[in-house]
Amino acid sequence: MKALIQPLESTYDLIADALADRGYCILPQLLPPELNIALHRRVARLDDADFQRAGIGRDLDFQLNNSVRQDQTRWLTSDNPTDRAYIDQMADFRLAINRRLFMGLFDYESHYAHYPPGAFYKKHLDAFKGQSNRVLTTVLYLNPEWQADDGGQLLIYAADSETVIETVNPNFGTFVIFLSEQFPHEVVKSLRDRYSIAGWFRLQDPLQAPAI
Ligand code: OGA
Ligand code: MN
Repeated sequence: MKALIQPLESTYDLIADALADRGYCILPQLLPPELNIALHRRVARLDDADFQRAGIGRDLDFQLNNSVRQDQTRWLTSDNPTDRAYIDQMADFRLAINRRLFMGLFDYESHYAHYPPGAFYKKHLDAFKGQSNRVLTTVLYLNPEWQADDGGQLLIYAADSETVIETVNPNFGTFVIFLSEQFPHEVVKSLRDRYSIAGWFRLQDPLQAPAI
């Protein structure tokens, strides 16, 4: 893709303040609209065979997993120009947040997710303290003209609680950021095809780091 406009420094200030104060941030819009459009076009054109877990499994692991989540996913890779444009934006995001919060974010992994009609993802945490180097979760929604009665809302819970603190409609361009270890969340059953990109900023894995 051609060069894209970056989010403003003032937008990163706002995100950093929200993360420091509350641990999460919900933005109706963050990335350039032409990038959101290109990402949507790409994910909507992928077919079942391009996603993981697209087949119908029969073993116990699949059954267990399937009772918790029913989305299909596909990793973004930098050899695709549209994926790369998104990955580049998130590299800038990483530096901007590190400059403000000294979080030591080291890298970023992300996948497209497709929830077919009827699919959900039950309440879960993306990372457990000391067991994962995922520290900051992002979700970008790619659904034009979403209606509240299409379902598919993201519910964010207060830490260690049954209290829902945010209900997010997966509207086109909405971008959510939260601390991975702190906020349980779930995806309510979606009645329409629902597309998103979920991503995780990670700390450096001490086992992978070169010895000094
Ligand atoms: C996830 C997740 C939320 C969403 O992939 O871990 O919680 O709204 N996704 O797609
Ligand atoms: Mn999650």
